[in-house]
Amino acid sequence: MTLTSSVSSSVGTTLRWGATHGLMRAAIRRQVRAGNPDARLLLDPVMQADPFPHYEMLRASHPFAPGAFARLTVHHDVATAVLRSDDFGVTHPTEVVPAPAKAALALAGPPRNPGPIEPPSMLAVDAPDHLRYRKLVSRAFTAKRVAALRERTSAVAQELLDDMDRAAHDGAHGRGDLTVDLVERYASLLPVTVISEMLGVPTSMRDQFLAWGDGAATSLDMGLTRRAHASMERNLAALNDWMREHLRRLRREPGDDLLSNIVGQVDDDGAGLSEQELVSTALLVLAAGFETTVNLIGNGTSQLFAHPEQRERLAAEPDLWPTAVDEILRFDPPVERTARRAKVDTEIAGKPLAAGDLVVTVLAGANRDPQVFTDPATFDVGRANAKEHLAFSSGPHFCLGASLARMEGEVALRALFERHPRLAPAGPPRRRPTRILRGYAELPVRLEPAVTTVG
Ligand code: HEM
Repeated sequence: MTLTSSVSSSVGTTLRWGATHGLMRAAIRRQVRAGNPDARLLLDPVMQADPFPHYEMLRASHPFAPGAFARLTVHHDVATAVLRSDDFGVTHPTEVVPAPAKAALALAGPPRNPGPIEPPSMLAVDAPDHLRYRKLVSRAFTAKRVAALRERTSAVAQELLDDMDRAAHDGAHGRGDLTVDLVERYASLLPVTVISEMLGVPTSMRDQFLAWGDGAATSLDMGLTRRAHASMERNLAALNDWMREHLRRLRREPGDDLLSNIVGQVDDDGAGLSEQELVSTALLVLAAGFETTVNLIGNGTSQLFAHPEQRERLAAEPDLWPTAVDEILRFDPPVERTARRAKVDTEIAGKPLAAGDLVVTVLAGANRDPQVFTDPATFDVGRANAKEHLAFSSGPHFCLGASLARMEGEVALRALFERHPRLAPAGPPRRRPTRILRGYAELPVRLEPAVTTVG
């Protein structure tokens, strides 16, 4: 019996939590006590709601500022150089822990259900594996293939808006106060419907995918509590099990869809892709397809509420919608930050780095770099160079779904504001508890102003 097979799965979960998130929680607390502001951001929901003053403070340090665990940068040129450099590779949490924790992880064995930032997810591996996985699915996401989906996406948007209107009327019971949660009724449903149809997974599963995805989204974060970690692992297991079974079904009865196409490429002799490589690739595309665009739609709606003059401009000049979507991505991006690790001794902006050093690139901070964007703290739906943001990262891991996300964001937001020109907030929104992903869990809106009776 090997050491790894000698530990039960619940002991394995505890060991993995302790060696990664448990240690990190303790380290974050120590850093907070030592006055590290980036560590405080990881724990403080008030700071998380508006991290931008913090990023401006970090901007004074060039090229890097001290982060909670690693140096970090909010500079556009530095972040771009790191993300595009061959001297850097991706990293994952188990790589950055101290030696005794590595021993505990070896004892725990590899997770049976790896998450989106653990190998063999394409987000967690470098070339040559990265290219093997990305090639499997990339042809479905070209600008041309995405353009062909626009009409269907518009139809989905209109169907969802019809359903949302009905739900608001049913909930109003004749009182005329048409209030709904935009995230629940619209922003979350549009992306999951579109990606499910693209991959050929049943759209009847969309509520279940959203629930599992919600539970697994914290897998991108550091320093989870033991309870949050156990819940995240349960949700990842459910997603992996479902996808494993779905791919087996497709192998028996292939359809005319992207996943049927890739199941033929399994090869357990090692020449092609293993089953877990296929499951992880399929799951990443599915989950990335709905976990992020929901935040683009929610954050975009919220920014347009906060900037009524920009909303009026869009109503008068609808051709600005594509630029507006990039401005939303720049100003309030759904993914806050990512990290890279130096593979060799190297240098960035004149600063030497040793092999193994970590760099956190704060995409949301780079998006407000005054060297690239004039008046970066101004939300301007006509900004000529809005597209230069780093919301989709840069380099080899540049978001595979960028064209799809832009198209979905534009179709979804335009259809919403054209159908409901007087759409208004209807109470305080609630943010998602995730730290890498930034968006709303609930965004109550009023479809028409409430009718008030006088007298
Ligand atoms: C507004 C929506 C979206 C945002 C802000 C976003 C953002 C990102 C970012 C920042 C990365 C790179 C992370 C890194 O460099 O470490 C990424 C990668 C990725 N995204 Fe997106 N994404 C969005 C929508 C989508 C959609 C709709 C899909 C659909 C399939 C998708 C699929 C992927 C995949 C597969 C990767 C991994 C690429 C690789 O490692 O080569 N994303 N995304």
